[in-house]
Amino acid sequence: MKFSKFLAAGAATAMALTLAACGGGGAGDDSGSDSTAGTGGDGAMTEGGLIGVAMPTETSERWIADGDAVKSGLEAEGFEVDLQFAADDIPTQQQQIDNMITNGVDALIVASIDGTTLSGQLQAAAEAGIPIIAYDRLINETENVDFYVSFDNFQVGVQQGTSLLVGLGLLNEDGTETGDEGPYNIELFAGSPDDNNAGFFFNGAMSVIQPFIDEGVLTVPSGQTDFDTVATLRWLQETAQKRMEDILTANYVGTGTELHGVLSPYDGLSRGILNALEFTGGYPGTIAEGMPIVTGQDAEIASVKLIADDVQFATIFKDTRKLADQAVVAATSYLNGEEPEANNTTDYDNGVKVVPSYLLESDIVYAGNIQELLVDSGYWTEEQIESGVA
Ligand code: BGC
Repeated sequence: MKFSKFLAAGAATAMALTLAACGGGGAGDDSGSDSTAGTGGDGAMTEGGLIGVAMPTETSERWIADGDAVKSGLEAEGFEVDLQFAADDIPTQQQQIDNMITNGVDALIVASIDGTTLSGQLQAAAEAGIPIIAYDRLINETENVDFYVSFDNFQVGVQQGTSLLVGLGLLNEDGTETGDEGPYNIELFAGSPDDNNAGFFFNGAMSVIQPFIDEGVLTVPSGQTDFDTVATLRWLQETAQKRMEDILTANYVGTGTELHGVLSPYDGLSRGILNALEFTGGYPGTIAEGMPIVTGQDAEIASVKLIADDVQFATIFKDTRKLADQAVVAATSYLNGEEPEANNTTDYDNGVKVVPSYLLESDIVYAGNIQELLVDSGYWTEEQIESGVA
């Protein structure tokens, strides 16, 4: 079965490494350049200045695409770029940012691993007059974050919840109710509790799911519904797979209770969950044959193939090329002595202040609109979707 091939352990990592080796972002906006500029490059700063870009990890293809797109966008504006990935290790990210400050960066663009562990670095940056842009993930509990570029994260969650309800047959794609009264059994997963986005995604999803639970249309047989219980530290696929296996063993396997859907906030987690559903739950490989509805996020290529193959039901497409463009616009504004333009000045309170933000919109990807959203926009090619490899 094709399905198992793309769920093989380590496939995501192997793909990430391949991408890194090619310097490719898989998002059609790649500069083809090396993904690490070293600490401070070769010291030869362009007139435009040096910008430090700190990304969390290369194990998820979206962050490689983000890093490459930000780097090439800044270089096109005449800046030199120090791009670093931190292997999801907090001390590594702290040290990378320390080095960027020591090397005299003129601005910082940071996608944090843990949104509360960079206060020391950001204080030093602020004292050196370096503007700090939080990239996709808000940095919390500090005065020293000047601007935030991201997607409307609550709305991303609403879309994740909506896609689950559409898959179960409770909602039409336009969001109207079908009148189906279930009942259906679901399980819930959330992202990393130290990532500010994870709560927004979960709350957004539950805003549309909870009313169906309250009416008894949806039930969560494991009883695990609060954020802290369903969160997945560091967004790790194997952690989600293990939790899904445990839930299946304790509540479903051999009990006659059938699982109908799983809220998953990220494609990597979804692939772990699908592994567990197939191998521990004994569910067949496609939705048509009885695989539960599983949602996702990021339109990773392996998951887009799973959607095309009727294995995963949906994902959320966040166009990282547009996000990278906004980060470049914000950094350029600061270096020109201007404030970047925000389109949201109310929603992102980091515990110390409301951070002016520029938020982008996202789309739900179903099998039926892969062509329109992902191929026609040049994000993935048909060949990539057919092979499941970027
Ligand atoms: C991003 C998601 C991503 C997740 C895991 C979040 O902060 O917003 O797009 O799926 O991190 O990498």
